[in-house]
Amino acid sequence: MTAAAPEAKANMGRPVPRYDAVSKVTGRATYASDMPLANPAYAFLVTSAISKGRVDNFDFDDARAVRGVIDIVTHQNAPKLKESKLFSNGGYAGTTIQPLKSPDIAHDGQIIAVVIAESYEAAREAANRVKVGYTVAAPSATFDSPGTTTAAAKGQNSQFKEDPKVGDFAGAFEAAEIQLTVSYDTPTQHHNPMELFSTSCAWIGDDLVIYEPSQYVHGLKNGVAEQLGIDADKVRVVNPYVGGGFGSRGSMTPRTAIIAAIAKRLNRPIKLVPTRDQGFTITTYRAETRHEIKLGASRDGKLVALRHEGAEVSSRPDAYCVGGTKTTTRLYACPNVDSLVSIVRADRNTPGFMRSPPEVPYLFALESAMDELAVKLDMDPVELRRINDTTTEPIGGKPYTSRSLMACFDEAAKAFGWAQRSPQPKSMAEGDWLIGYGCAATCYPTQMGPAAARVRLQRDSRTRVEIAGHEIGTGAYTVIAQTAAERLGVPLEKVAVFIGDSDLPPAPVAGGSNSTASTCSAVMMVCDQIRQRLFKAVMPSDSLTEKAKETVGISKAPSTQAAKSDRPLDLEKAFDALGVGVVEEYGEWKPEGAPLDSFRAMHSGHVRLVGGHQMKDKIAYAFGAEFVEVRVNRFTHEIRCPRLVGAFAAGRIMNPRTARSQLMGGLIWGMSSALLEATEIDERNARYVNDNFADYLVPVNADVAGVEVILLSEQDDHINPAGAKGLGELANVGTNAAICNALYHATGQRIRKLPVRLENIEV
Ligand code: MOS
Repeated sequence: MTAAAPEAKANMGRPVPRYDAVSKVTGRATYASDMPLANPAYAFLVTSAISKGRVDNFDFDDARAVRGVIDIVTHQNAPKLKESKLFSNGGYAGTTIQPLKSPDIAHDGQIIAVVIAESYEAAREAANRVKVGYTVAAPSATFDSPGTTTAAAKGQNSQFKEDPKVGDFAGAFEAAEIQLTVSYDTPTQHHNPMELFSTSCAWIGDDLVIYEPSQYVHGLKNGVAEQLGIDADKVRVVNPYVGGGFGSRGSMTPRTAIIAAIAKRLNRPIKLVPTRDQGFTITTYRAETRHEIKLGASRDGKLVALRHEGAEVSSRPDAYCVGGTKTTTRLYACPNVDSLVSIVRADRNTPGFMRSPPEVPYLFALESAMDELAVKLDMDPVELRRINDTTTEPIGGKPYTSRSLMACFDEAAKAFGWAQRSPQPKSMAEGDWLIGYGCAATCYPTQMGPAAARVRLQRDSRTRVEIAGHEIGTGAYTVIAQTAAERLGVPLEKVAVFIGDSDLPPAPVAGGSNSTASTCSAVMMVCDQIRQRLFKAVMPSDSLTEKAKETVGISKAPSTQAAKSDRPLDLEKAFDALGVGVVEEYGEWKPEGAPLDSFRAMHSGHVRLVGGHQMKDKIAYAFGAEFVEVRVNRFTHEIRCPRLVGAFAAGRIMNPRTARSQLMGGLIWGMSSALLEATEIDERNARYVNDNFADYLVPVNADVAGVEVILLSEQDDHINPAGAKGLGELANVGTNAAICNALYHATGQRIRKLPVRLENIEV
């Protein structure tokens, strides 16, 4: 075993290499814009240079002079599209701002024209020659900008129904022996997946094929059909590989239907590959947030009062918010809890999901405040968490299905060498470098959604699994293949997996870290249907069918190991008895507690995730603990992060190799969100300034000296048949707090605003 392929502990699958590894490293994997199209035209977007106002006129003379220009589409001649409802309110779109509908401009970088040409270069050249006359209005950029409006999130957004509270916060805080009131800020961030936000559309008669990196092919299919006013059966979305998602591709953006409609009008396939900077404004992002945390505790460290107030920026028309208080009010035992989330409307593009949308900013506040409380109590921060650990969440009193938070703290502390820390700030140094150790908790809700799958088994064991899941780099192909192989008892190399195509049975959005739990549970169920058919063929009597059921393991929550251990089924015999060459089964799985309309919603591309705190009589989260070492140069204030150590427990680990890869990436991103990432906004003009990879800082190898991922063995029989908790969004949570806690330890300076750069260090 190597670090990349950690040994499987109890309740873990094998760390097999990625199913798609060879095709990716040899360049055979085809991404959306690689798809060959017959005689395509190329589109290039013109985006607004102002953030608020309207387009008065265009001058296309220079643009049209470029050889190869075919058409220029603006609000004056754009195909008419139906409006789309916001994703979070049950629609498909990530924004209700529909460009090319009118001359109005709602945000910086809004699409105002699409140039179509015979080549990408011609389209781009012509787009750059388009002259635009604007009427400019004064925009509101962000918090504190004149003209913003602020209102409670509750009641504005169907995803955020309630501000969690319990007991008497005010009284308990007032009476608390120790009180802490602190404020924190997190910045605007953009996902920037490697694959650009491309869209290719090709019509064959009335049938449309869309090649686009999407985290939700069934959502995009139905959403585009709705906007075009055509039957969803006429639309197919194909993306066998997606070059990163992080939430930016969970909901539909306005570009797709526009390109589809122009392709139809031109009667020609169109390829659009927007630039990196356009990706900052034509899709979604993580909005900046503000927090105030109040903690009241007894001298022995027990929390008696907790209040979390958060404010988030959204666009004028859309009340997007992440509302992370749903998590921060439930993480620790506390009898008196209060919270409030507000939305501040500004002249911005609508924000959206970005990896662990609620937990990244909200746990930064809570886990920083817990460290500050530990300092006030003169207590080890790990012990403070232990004292306030709980097996039931305090708001509804529901039990966690499993919770290995302190086990994670203990494992990570041991691996990190936490015991060697001298607790006084500024007490550890080496040469010119101040050394700091810090830690924080992480958690992420366990979610799952209805999913369908089709599995075909041949008598020679060859197996074909079809499910419209998504490979966004997480290892979806691999864990689906492993699940089918284990469940059917066939060799892994005999299993072919087909995902990333809306013609396949629907799976949920690859978001909310639900994919593994949902798709593997569905695939397990359908494999069991196949085994049942085969068993019935060779053992038709009732008693044997009962025995078969037992062996097949179709009990309520079977372990995926059950099927492979003994394989009493002779495939050849069973196929002979059935008299067929192929056995194929289709099935639809839904999680316990899924709403009644689940399958209908699933087939129309709507998300019905259940899990987290929204389950009826339980609460399901994955947990982890992260420890970091930072070094701060006394003279230059340069900040380095030589070590990131995380221990995580997430139910059944389907594949320790792909799991480690996800968690390692998360730790690195978490560090990045503390020290590097921020989208800078020109507040006068409400425009993003550093909309490129040179100025928007992301970590490179030299920024990441050491990352250690520890996978804990955990079994949870109360979540889903696969027994898996999502972990894709687990590791990039809390890291930002751990870093600031370590910076405090190194320097004695508490930093409450991200990102932390060397100019913020004052020692
Ligand atoms: Mo993730 S932000 O739920 O794709």
